[in-house]
Amino acid sequence: MYLCRTLKCPNMSKKIEGFSKWSKDQKINWITQMHFEDSANAKEILLSYNHPRKEIQQQHDEFIENSITNFYLPLGVAPNFVINGKEYTLPMAIEESSVVAAACNAAKFWASKGGFKTQILGTQKNGQIHFLFDGNKTLLKKFFQENKTSLLESTKSITANMKNRGGGISNLELLDKSNVIDHYFQLHLTFETVDSMGANFINSCLELIANEMGLLSANYDDFIAEQCSLEIIMSILSNHLPHCLVEATVSCPVDELNTGENSSGAQFAKKFIQAVEIAEKEPFRAVTHNKGIMNGIDAVVIATGNDFRAVEAGAHAHAVKNGKYSSLSRAFISRDNFVFQLEIPLSLGTVGGLTQLHPVVKWSMEMLGNPDAKELMQIVAVAGLAQNFAAIRSLITSGIQKGHMKMHLLNILNQKNATDLQKEKAIAYFKTQPVSYSAVSNFLSTNP
Ligand code: MEV
Repeated sequence: MYLCRTLKCPNMSKKIEGFSKWSKDQKINWITQMHFEDSANAKEILLSYNHPRKEIQQQHDEFIENSITNFYLPLGVAPNFVINGKEYTLPMAIEESSVVAAACNAAKFWASKGGFKTQILGTQKNGQIHFLFDGNKTLLKKFFQENKTSLLESTKSITANMKNRGGGISNLELLDKSNVIDHYFQLHLTFETVDSMGANFINSCLELIANEMGLLSANYDDFIAEQCSLEIIMSILSNHLPHCLVEATVSCPVDELNTGENSSGAQFAKKFIQAVEIAEKEPFRAVTHNKGIMNGIDAVVIATGNDFRAVEAGAHAHAVKNGKYSSLSRAFISRDNFVFQLEIPLSLGTVGGLTQLHPVVKWSMEMLGNPDAKELMQIVAVAGLAQNFAAIRSLITSGIQKGHMKMHLLNILNQKNATDLQKEKAIAYFKTQPVSYSAVSNFLSTNP
């Protein structure tokens, strides 16, 4: 195989110049001829995933550089979510077979018990200008006291609009970090970005301030007299968002925890709380536990055109807030009520970014009733809590594989090119049989 490739592309070691400027066709021809044995087939696959409507395809191509086709994820919907008394159907973009089914189950279960309750605990975003200063700290403090207003004023051109919408820069603070790195300081800024996720706004503000800071410090008499200098290293928002938090909760009387399994509400609650406590205390379990939460969170975040990498990074930073990686959710009994709760930082936008551009994102937003950013934070947190509930419920009762493999059955059947009739028969057969790759293979060979 390696030999063939080498023969096929004798100039592999030569770097391509100006690739991004080639037309999409040129890129496709080059890539398929260069890297594939059957280049015609490789090209056909790419073309078959293009959108038939030219303007939609062009929109997608313009999202990123070097786009050569689209990469599909299924969009599922999960109805029956009751959040603060309002009904929602959640859009979920995800490839993992059991996630939407699990969300649906949890939504239905809690809908009959008053649904999900949520509250926003904060919406503050932040960013830092990281810099080095080699002089007297007192001088540096004086410089900031004297120039704080000018630094903030330097962002006027871009903060005006945000201020009109109720947002902007809410604080600017000098932090001495020279105990962690010699001469290292930060300007730590906090922001309110209302309905936008705010990454571009925050980064633009930081860069303007950093620029102004460079100019002002170079001409600051006290620094010149003391021969000290201030060097900007970088300016960037932080995805660590300890004050941009949402909490989602479900609760019901313990004896109403009728999960349909062979245990009383009290037994179920006890085992459930134990399972969450294990995730609180044991990092190996906590990571998987939180991954289950992110199954629900990411699916809605992607469907609503938000940045799931930012959400992931922030969530895991929050999970380690007490110095040890732990569960993002907690479960307990309070006055004979079972309570299950998730607290998670979520930086989401409902304006800007992909939200107004991607047709399916717009569709998802409309299905959710065009929520503002705070409402979307609450919906997304609920998706995480629901997913976590469904996963733990399976884990402590039937085990996860039963539901998982049932959902995975179709993937295996498709991998093995089963006909529609074989699929129908297999689905009926595996209702009562354990699903595994070999069991499905055997079934297909005995049911041609
Ligand atoms: C699988 O994608 C997610 C789970 O592992 C989550 C969990 O273990 O809680 C089922």
